[in-house]
Amino acid sequence: MRERGRRQSEEEQRGRVVAASPEMIGVAAAWLQEGKLVAIPTETVYGLAADAEQEEAVRRVFAVKGRPANHPLIVHVADEGMATAYAAEWPRAAAILTRRFWPGPLTVVVEASARVLPVVTGGQSRVALRVPRHQWTRQLIARLGRGVVAPSANRFGRISPTSAAHVAAEFAGVDLLVVDGGRTAIGVESTIVDCSQVEQEGCVRVLRLGAVGVKALRRALAEEGCTVRVEEGEREGEGERGKRSESVRVPGSLPAHYAPQTRLVLWEDAEESVPEGERRRGVWAPADWPRVPGEVVRFVQLEDGYSVARALYAVLRTMDGLGVEELVAALPRGEDPLSTAVRDRLRRAAAGSGGGTVLIALRRENEGPYSLRTEPDRDVACGGSTNGFV
Ligand code: TXA
Ligand code: MG
Repeated sequence: MRERGRRQSEEEQRGRVVAASPEMIGVAAAWLQEGKLVAIPTETVYGLAADAEQEEAVRRVFAVKGRPANHPLIVHVADEGMATAYAAEWPRAAAILTRRFWPGPLTVVVEASARVLPVVTGGQSRVALRVPRHQWTRQLIARLGRGVVAPSANRFGRISPTSAAHVAAEFAGVDLLVVDGGRTAIGVESTIVDCSQVEQEGCVRVLRLGAVGVKALRRALAEEGCTVRVEEGEREGEGERGKRSESVRVPGSLPAHYAPQTRLVLWEDAEESVPEGERRRGVWAPADWPRVPGEVVRFVQLEDGYSVARALYAVLRTMDGLGVEELVAALPRGEDPLSTAVRDRLRRAAAGSGGGTVLIALRRENEGPYSLRTEPDRDVACGGSTNGFV
């Protein structure tokens, strides 16, 4: 008897994970209609979805995530027609970008229509919209007939989920239907482009880096004569350099985000240097890096952006569960959009983990064989995150 009770509660703890089958579309749509939360697969990361037009349900998303009410949510829609119903204006730049990249890892910010609840936007006049590529999720939204808000399905500031198991672990005990659509294909969150001021300014602004890179955005908008600016805020939001020119709020742009519980430090140039100290370390680095002192386990970091992005959050989660004293990640060196986005996420994760805002770079010094140097300035400038784009 006691055994059965224990098993039952274990199952509850794991949450209700169901496969993304055709039959589940109706079940999940009914949950959403009832104002309940459903964790949905997308091609980027899993989202914690609620009916965007039910205020109570949207509030529950903020509560479950522990997210401050003034951080707006993306409304996920099934197609362009549904998107324009939530938009007061649909600038040509938004039309061009969404026709080119939807369904896909692109979110556009435009002026919101009266149909958008203030709770969704944190009281701002603009709304963020995205058509995800995951087919099951698009069918779910089409069945519901309304948009769903869907922040990444993790507690505020923590590591984003790229599998249903991550979501279930993150929200153990929460009344939630978790729909398993497999590992996410891309692994980092969508690129966010603010198109709301394009008429006045002749440019769109990139608020968050993702799989749709800045070069691709520029190419798509070139004929329009519209330029693409990368928001200063994405350079870690520190001091004058990080100051945002307007009131757009993007928590992904906070310097501390996507964070493991264990302190994470970022290293570069390992071929030329050897780290100090004998802490027990979990390491995510290329196979040809020399062994790190204290290295308990190494997850091999591949070179290409797709592999790096797909692995990022799962590796951070796994390493975080090892009980080691420190996590070490190599900063990938690719100039492609995904490597660039991963550098950006790693810097925020390091900052959020108490690794501080200090990027630890290892360099061979003239005077000694090797030494450890901290370079706070480099971190503030966050040179890597816009490399190749600006
Ligand atoms: O790939 C993604 O976008 C994933 C999947 C689930 O679709 N979603 C996601 O949501 O990353 P979330 O809430 O974790 O991050 C959404 C970002 C936040 O940084 C938020 O501030 C920004 O979008 N955002 C939402 N509405 C906005 C608005 N009206 N203006 C500017 N930024 C906005
Ligand atoms: Mg998030």
